Amino acid sequence: MCGIVGYAGARPATPILVRALRDLEYRGYDSAGIAVLGSADGEGLVITKRVGKIVNLESALDSSPGNEATVGIGHTRWATHGRPSDLNAHPHTSCGGEVVVIHNGIVENYAALRSALTARGHTFASETDTETIAHLMEERTRSGLPLLEALRLTIGELEGSHAIVAMSPSEPGAIVAARVGNAGGVVVGYGEGEMLVASDLAAILPHTQQVAFLASHQLARVDRGGAAYINGDGSPATVEPHRVPIDPVSALKGQYEHFMLKEIMEQPEALSDTIRSLVTIEPAGIHLPDLGAMSDRLSEVRRVILIGMGTSLHAAMVGRAFIERLSGVPAETDNASEFRYRDPVLGPGTLVVSVSQSGETVDVLEAMAVARAKQAMQITICNTEGAQTTRVAGGTVYTRAGLERGVASTKCFTTALVALYALALRMGEANGYLARERIAGHIQDLARLPDAVARVLQDHTPYRALANHFYDARHFLFLGRGLAFPVAMEGALKLKEISYIHAEGYAAGEMKHGPIALVDRSFPTVAVAPAHALRSKLVSNIEQIQARGGEVIVVASEGDDELAALADHAIFMPAVPEFVEPFVATVPLQCLSYYIALRRGCDVDQPRNLAKTVTVE
Ligand code: G6P
Repeated sequence: MCGIVGYAGARPATPILVRALRDLEYRGYDSAGIAVLGSADGEGLVITKRVGKIVNLESALDSSPGNEATVGIGHTRWATHGRPSDLNAHPHTSCGGEVVVIHNGIVENYAALRSALTARGHTFASETDTETIAHLMEERTRSGLPLLEALRLTIGELEGSHAIVAMSPSEPGAIVAARVGNAGGVVVGYGEGEMLVASDLAAILPHTQQVAFLASHQLARVDRGGAAYINGDGSPATVEPHRVPIDPVSALKGQYEHFMLKEIMEQPEALSDTIRSLVTIEPAGIHLPDLGAMSDRLSEVRRVILIGMGTSLHAAMVGRAFIERLSGVPAETDNASEFRYRDPVLGPGTLVVSVSQSGETVDVLEAMAVARAKQAMQITICNTEGAQTTRVAGGTVYTRAGLERGVASTKCFTTALVALYALALRMGEANGYLARERIAGHIQDLARLPDAVARVLQDHTPYRALANHFYDARHFLFLGRGLAFPVAMEGALKLKEISYIHAEGYAAGEMKHGPIALVDRSFPTVAVAPAHALRSKLVSNIEQIQARGGEVIVVASEGDDELAALADHAIFMPAVPEFVEPFVATVPLQCLSYYIALRRGCDVDQPRNLAKTVTVE
């Protein structure tokens, strides 16, 4: 979850590190720090760290030496061990100041390591688990081992998953990095006469698109001349750099006040790019170019389990219905963190479909490891080229949403639905469940989708008006049936993530089994009721809520005047075919959450306690 960056080159390191931390701030933002080697007078280690957002670090750096240093590391933190404070912010040093470390992950055996190190005379400056790594490395560098070897031997003592970056005044000009397990990626960037390491591409892309990814138990040593790689057993590793195609410009906020709004508005284009990459309209065909070994095995699939976390789990829930109804194969969903620990029964013919926009979420990666150990077929839906999930799965369906920066996922949700829709169609084609004409019909529906979403986004006045009316509500209920049920779940998640209003997403039929007890004038309900989503059943749910004094906002298909007259407030969406409804119905809920959070003065792109990519359990 934390953001990590290192720079070794010829340019001043501090501004590069600070800019990278800004690009990584979405990963964690409770404190930040940098360490540079070689101050203005050419010597020494300068560490500057501050609790709070990067801006606090920047103010501190104004008066800090080290401005001419050309090697350094930086970190933005999402606290696990030790509260957010200046002292607990990374980087951390060993007591002799010989090693400086930044880290993403949890040292699960840190209590035992800390007492053993204390008994051996080390003194700790912070409450963090990370500091143990610096002390353990220092014991090795003191005995004369090079920094990379010190790191390699140290990771053998750590329990848990980690991404670690370190440097030392004893090897000026060099940065070492290691990846262990799934706590987060380590990307090495190859610039002109300079090298970078980072937790993810966002920090590298402003400088170079030539990158290499470390696999688990691989280590790297970089200096301005290049990189050398070893495996955890000390043998040399072959890690080939390649060019990644993401345009760094898309990472900028542009005309928008927040990344979330920008990404909501980008959906027509992101959907269109994703659709074009997976289907052809004339002649109608589904082409999933990255399915790899799974391309020829789709007709073997007898059962599908879809897994994910957060918004991606909601996408998986929609995907489940797509797969059952378009391929006739039984499908179920599971939260990845539950799946991994429940010793799932995966018989022959089971396909596990994981959904993860980042491809780095630790619960998803661990669940995929369980599926792999049980020899299940695997396909992953991912928005990040070359991410870890794509290396584990037998095949990938990429979404083409571009970099998503807002912590609350928007365009990655709707584009994941495209990928799942295309996968379901391809499965139905492969096992003969869907006739060619039906596939062509669905492709036509998909082709019209970006336009329908663009229409929902044309006028924000209704969302602003509703936000003004409801911004001080303390609770919200979101109801949906059928394909609109996961949409209701996603609507509730968006609202709680960014506005801190308590919200529940429920299957509408469940409402009378509990939630209705809460309903009164101060407990509004959003009913997601497009034409095909068992709308008539929802009508009676709405009446039941209103009978108890609850205010109801409906999301209804254009022309549904009956529903609009019944509800207190209506948001209209274009009338679209059934399978396209979840895409289009989601967008007004994203907008509603955004404007409510804005009206409440919340930090939309960096909501408290959350992180974009969750690489700890
Ligand atoms: C975090 C983010 C969510 C995201 C979830 C899964 O909780 O805040 O927006 O849906 O992780 O992320 P993934 O990258 O696996 O889709």
